[in-house]
Amino acid sequence: MHEVQEKKEKKPIILSGIQPTGIFTLGNYIGAIRNWVQLQEDYDTAYMIADLHALTVRQDPKVLRENILRAYAVILACGVDPEKSLTFIQSQVPEHAQLSWILSCNTQFGELSRMTQFKDKSAKHADNINAGLFTYPSLMAADILLYQADLVPVGADQSQHLELTRDIATRFNGLYGNTFKLPQGYYPKVGARVMSLADPTKKMSKSDENQNAFITILDEPGTIVKKFKRAVTDSEMSVRYAEGKDGINNLMSIYSSVTGLTYEQIEHDFAGKGYGDFKQAVGEAVAEELRPVRENYKRLREDKAYLEACYRAGAEKASHVARRTLQKVYKKCGLIL
Ligand code: TRP
Repeated sequence: MHEVQEKKEKKPIILSGIQPTGIFTLGNYIGAIRNWVQLQEDYDTAYMIADLHALTVRQDPKVLRENILRAYAVILACGVDPEKSLTFIQSQVPEHAQLSWILSCNTQFGELSRMTQFKDKSAKHADNINAGLFTYPSLMAADILLYQADLVPVGADQSQHLELTRDIATRFNGLYGNTFKLPQGYYPKVGARVMSLADPTKKMSKSDENQNAFITILDEPGTIVKKFKRAVTDSEMSVRYAEGKDGINNLMSIYSSVTGLTYEQIEHDFAGKGYGDFKQAVGEAVAEELRPVRENYKRLREDKAYLEACYRAGAEKASHVARRTLQKVYKKCGLIL
């Protein structure tokens, strides 16, 4: 986001975030981070590690610190380029917490109570239903509105929060005059949802107790192939995309999104072959796709100074952009910045 370039050609702004909770999966890669990398070419992009969001559930400080650094290194390893995108750690840009408070004061209790993620998470963490868990969507709204984002790539589970962001922005604009751009969701067409290898009716999740249910971005090739070999399929023995064949559909979707082959091409290539051959091919293709990511990651983690220089510079640049919006908001609310 160079000042000069911004004036010459205004590209639409994209912002997205990912929580640094545990290691990222193939689902995060195909469904999110890989798209972030492609979007950098045609948009003004901002990507952040949403560590403040992670605090809404209890974290071990040592583990969290490690996860934040690892998440930051992983997105760089995947190809997010700090020269092209604002690439930062949320908590290092204080404007997020500042705007979040003001937006909380413009968000209704009733609205927050209706968020399905709040209901799910408070059921799951019944011993820690904290205020942050409740106001989480106001923080997410701040993330998005600070950068005047046009488009926000999110999974379906976040679309309700994005809708609320628009409602908050609309309300604020109505009360105080035009301040925030209204963001829209950006939902990638292919490979949006990678399913569990152990239960293909469920989304692939890094918190699954069964280690064979998910592939992590940093898994070794042998592990990747082994996990695909164990993937749950059906008893039909024909590689084709069809209703009721959730396991095979998932493998075809993964294979298609890493090789670029269509379902028809895949069906043709594997006609008459067994699931064993197909699983082997999917495993090898995924291992190959993730090879450079794994290698880049190893190199980046060894270069602490470089990594730190990146996130410090990223936070400074992000803060510069965010501050312009915060300044407007302060003024409109009658605060003095
Ligand atoms: N809440 C998102 C999630 O859990 C992460 C996130 C935080 C985010 N802030 C954001 C995503 C802003 C998009 C835009 O997946």
